[in-house]
Amino acid sequence: MKYDIRQLKLLSNDQIADGIFDMRLDYPEGEIPVQCGQFAHVYVPGKSLRRPISVCDARDGVLRLVYQIKGEGTKIMSQMQPGCMVDVLAPLGNGFSVQPGKRYALIGGGIGVPPMLYTAAQCDHPLVITGFRNEKLVILQDDFRTAGAEVVLATDDGTAGQKGFVTDVLRERIAEVDEVCACGPTPMLRAIAQVCREFGKPCQISLEERMACGIGACLVCAVKVRKDGEEIMQHVCKNGPVFNAEEVVFGG
Ligand SMILES: Cc1cc2nc3c(=O)[nH]c(=O)nc-3n(C[C@H](O)[C@H](O)[C@H](O)COP(=O)(O)OP(=O)(O)OC[C@H]3O[C@@H](n4cnc5c(N)ncnc54)[C@H](O)[C@@H]3O)c2cc1C
Ligand code: FES
Repeated sequence: MKYDIRQLKLLSNDQIADGIFDMRLDYPEGEIPVQCGQFAHVYVPGKSLRRPISVCDARDGVLRLVYQIKGEGTKIMSQMQPGCMVDVLAPLGNGFSVQPGKRYALIGGGIGVPPMLYTAAQCDHPLVITGFRNEKLVILQDDFRTAGAEVVLATDDGTAGQKGFVTDVLRERIAEVDEVCACGPTPMLRAIAQVCREFGKPCQISLEERMACGIGACLVCAVKVRKDGEEIMQHVCKNGPVFNAEEVVFGG
């Protein structure tokens, strides 16, 4: 894992939906290349721990992080002004592995949608399935289209796109794709893994755990995975956040 701590210039930090912000940072040529599905660990002034945010995009010399205000750290991030320098540890973790010639279904649920944009940009005409609770939380639809994806929108309450869950759409369309990549809440990931198992499609999922160091040193982000028939603990920050869905031992 090759990463660096950098002071990156904040280019813009705009609200794009209810409580959701789009942070763009200067990431010029010569910085470490980013793999889709990797994350950045952002220093927030006044907080001892960095905040992990997935890379939404890393093209054209701009590192884009799309985040939702959850607590104090992300609130402080939303108040950062263009021109300031942001202390970023990146790129971290193991991202999605995508190969040319395959058709992918890229599935994002809620704030799990952003990492699918840079992933879509690495794929050939992927099917992107995005799910949100309601119309106020819908993000990035035009960005996906510009990246060459076919994008399907679903909302839980039917206020935008089709009413229902991303898994409903996946069931309807899974025969069209070779492989599935997903990021979002754990129940959604568990359901997607189940559908892929049923239809015999490979599936990669990006997990989220509370993090401290972000580089595999503190054990905070441990998850159980099954390797060669044995259950072992791995770190979401270092071994993931992307795992083979078949290897993840879902709790509960
Ligand atoms: C690999 C990864 C990628 C992520 N990508 C995104 C993204 O693209 N956009 C986005 O909006 N959010 C993302 N998150 C979740 C985001 O990190 C948390 O919402 C954020 O850290 C909350 O910080 P806070 O100070 O606002 O909230 P608080 O709840 O006040 O945070 C308190 C502490 O808990 C940690 N924490 C709280 N919730 C989470 C969480 N869900 N995951 C990890 N640590 C947490 C914080 O980092 C902080 O150390 C990601 C999390 C992980 C692990
Ligand atoms: S956050 Fe420290 S080991 Fe993963």
